[in-house]
Amino acid sequence: MTRAVIAGSGSVIAPTRVTNAQMARILDTSDEWIRERSGVEVRHFATPDIATSDLGVAAAAKALETAGVPKDEVDLVVFATMTPDHYFPGCGTILQHKLGLRPVPCFDIRQQCSGFLYGLQLADAHVRAGMAKTVLLVGAEVHIGFMPWTRENFAYAIGESDVSPTEEEWAWNSRFRHLVVLFGDAGSAVVLKAVEGGERGVLDHELHGAGADYEKLYVPGTGSRHRPYTDPEQFRRGDHIPAMDGRYVFKMATTNMVEVAQSVLEKNGVRPEELKLVLMHQANKRINEYCARALGLRDEQVPQNIHKYGNTTAATIPLLWDECARDGRLGPGDLVLMVTFGAGMTWGASLVRA
Ligand code: ACO
Repeated sequence: MTRAVIAGSGSVIAPTRVTNAQMARILDTSDEWIRERSGVEVRHFATPDIATSDLGVAAAAKALETAGVPKDEVDLVVFATMTPDHYFPGCGTILQHKLGLRPVPCFDIRQQCSGFLYGLQLADAHVRAGMAKTVLLVGAEVHIGFMPWTRENFAYAIGESDVSPTEEEWAWNSRFRHLVVLFGDAGSAVVLKAVEGGERGVLDHELHGAGADYEKLYVPGTGSRHRPYTDPEQFRRGDHIPAMDGRYVFKMATTNMVEVAQSVLEKNGVRPEELKLVLMHQANKRINEYCARALGLRDEQVPQNIHKYGNTTAATIPLLWDECARDGRLGPGDLVLMVTFGAGMTWGASLVRA
């Protein structure tokens, strides 16, 4: 049997480090609230010269190097992001060009926080079907583009300006406080190689999508629901900024992540204690603590890095994989479950032997 083995990973974090206390300089929040409710302590944002594909390209270059795979071996690109450089085209072909890859098929995945696992299933299916042998799977995001603050507000937050927000700007930024404190920018990538026989590789997946409640987490404007798809009125209303019912998302995430994880484990006859690691999407530390308890996992099985990076959407799971692979928590042969929930609504789990 041919399986897709994760042969290497790489990641990059955006350069501008922003603490919770710095966020509290431009909107009504506090370090204590953000830590307690989400687990985030610090996030990093891209500078204006950096777009999503740039983070993806840098992460992909590192992943290729770690895997020891020359660029011309890549025969499929899958790029997951909800914050592409442009309305179209997606980041897949931009990455192909910037990395100097051959003109191979390039898919763009739009499943937000579930993007990496949707991409993993697509990559795995290509490998199993013999349609690809070396796949570059990338998750990257630049969220700062949909943040409400002005550039000057942001400069004030990070100590690069003395001009504090006006009362009006403060109120506007604070309107989105439940959302904007959660996110950070990063890119991460894995290289999957087709391997004949052996135990290693992607073993199984279960993905779900249900759109009935998509408006609980979505960007109301800047799409074809509007004519034209973007205009100053939408910006005045804040329709370019995601709208999120946090409590609803929290409840749906905990319920569905536990269910899908249990389902994949049962189908594969794996007991939770047999897993070396469970890599959960990093949206909220409390969501993951709840899921870990419900699944009967030990703390050391559930690594978290949300405190350092916030929610990096499509990049969270490969970023966690990369960190664990680099610091020795994860090595060849280890059994790993990846679990996620995101906008759409979408969710899923993948079982992988590293
Ligand atoms: N600072 C201070 N206070 C705040 C902040 C903030 N940043 N944000 C909200 N509050 C206030 C609210 O105004 C509210 O005040 P009130 O009681 O006076 O009305 C109070 O805190 C409680 O608000 P809740 O929204 O009920 O707080 P909750 O404990 O649910 O935490 C949070 C909010 C962190 C958003 C949580 O619901 C959550 O993490 N939900 C899931 C988010 C998620 O997973 N998103 C998906 C990822 S994104 C993607 O898929 C693209």
